[in-house]
Amino acid sequence: MCIFCDLLFLPYNNNTMNNIKKTLFSEKPIHIGENSGYDNYIMAIESSCDETACAIVKNGREVLSNVVASQIKTHEKYGGVIPEIAAREHLEAINIVIEEAFEQANIKPQDITAFAGTVGPGLVGSLLVGLNAAKTLSLIYDKPFIGINHLNAHVCANYIDTDLKPPFIALLISGGHTQIIEVKSHSEQYILGETIDDAVGEAYDKVARLIGLPYPGGPLLDKLAKDGNKFAYKLPISKVGEYDFSFSGLKTAVLRLVQQIEKVEELKSRKVENITIQPFDCSALQPELIDVCASFQETVSETLLIKVKSALKEKGYKQVVLAGGVAANSEIRRKFFELENQGYKVNAPAMKYCTDNAAMVASCAYFSTNTFDDVDVEVFSRVKGLKK
Ligand code: KG4
Ligand code: ZN
Repeated sequence: MCIFCDLLFLPYNNNTMNNIKKTLFSEKPIHIGENSGYDNYIMAIESSCDETACAIVKNGREVLSNVVASQIKTHEKYGGVIPEIAAREHLEAINIVIEEAFEQANIKPQDITAFAGTVGPGLVGSLLVGLNAAKTLSLIYDKPFIGINHLNAHVCANYIDTDLKPPFIALLISGGHTQIIEVKSHSEQYILGETIDDAVGEAYDKVARLIGLPYPGGPLLDKLAKDGNKFAYKLPISKVGEYDFSFSGLKTAVLRLVQQIEKVEELKSRKVENITIQPFDCSALQPELIDVCASFQETVSETLLIKVKSALKEKGYKQVVLAGGVAANSEIRRKFFELENQGYKVNAPAMKYCTDNAAMVASCAYFSTNTFDDVDVEVFSRVKGLKK
């Protein structure tokens, strides 16, 4: 039976949404977090972009289920995410993903301590699908609802399967954001710096596209870069504010380089048999383009490391964590984990918790400690600051 069918048996109640304290109907005092005194089972939904995800996490760190339905295949042919299509696909996937999460975790919705959902930043139509599902479940089962900031959730992915505790410096690198965050405690966090133009993931995807790789190009560019010469091309490192980033100059430099390489290659191929290179066949990529991938990856990873190292030193932190989809990048991980040889404690989420997922949202809800939201909380598309 569809778990939403319980909605039919809702007791009548005159509460208006604004009066909700912790639960809608009973106003039962429910405690969330490390000092709650009992096991917390949080079910969370994430639907901010092109992944429909649902997860159930015990006490913020133990993942009982983590289901992700990706829309990459749909958006691939457009070279990027089409918001209207994304929202429609979320609608199609949401119930299936939720039911699968309950089945895998072998837990009943009645046993969930609280329901959580991503409120933003993200695509409004997409966010609405997941958020409304999470709110509805909290109403049906009379449990608290916790609205979560997607960026904060990425950082919290680091708590999964670890005993990590703040304080630390977090480098958040995703498709939409690039930030250095000072995490003093679960409730006190400051953005030290951020990108003034493209996010790292966005730069990866755009450069990958220039080279002719399919969307999202980041992971494939990372793979190709391993076979290239990272010192083949000297690319520019931007000189913006202390902890800020800019990747637009680097992107333009890569564009010029690719245009030069392709011109030479075109002339060569005309001389031979007028062979045209299939852009999506990686084995047909000329070696110079693979060197471009390696050189781009080297420049990006070095830039990130330099900035984070100065934040660690100047702010006096000994712990650093990576977060966001680009934290899955092999070279960035390698460079940052080398900091362990200099006395720093380094953490990065397992690969499956780097890119968008709901386990990180559930973990974030747990560590937000007794922070509840009314079910009329609204989605938002742009950053409103990292703190909830
Ligand atoms: O965090 P995420 O899943 O979604 C956002 O919140 O934006 O990040 C997606 C981004 C995409 O730009 C994707 O190309 C990039 O993460 N990405 C990578 C790698 N894996 C994912 N970029 C570089 N190297 C990777 N291995
Ligand atoms: Zn994300």
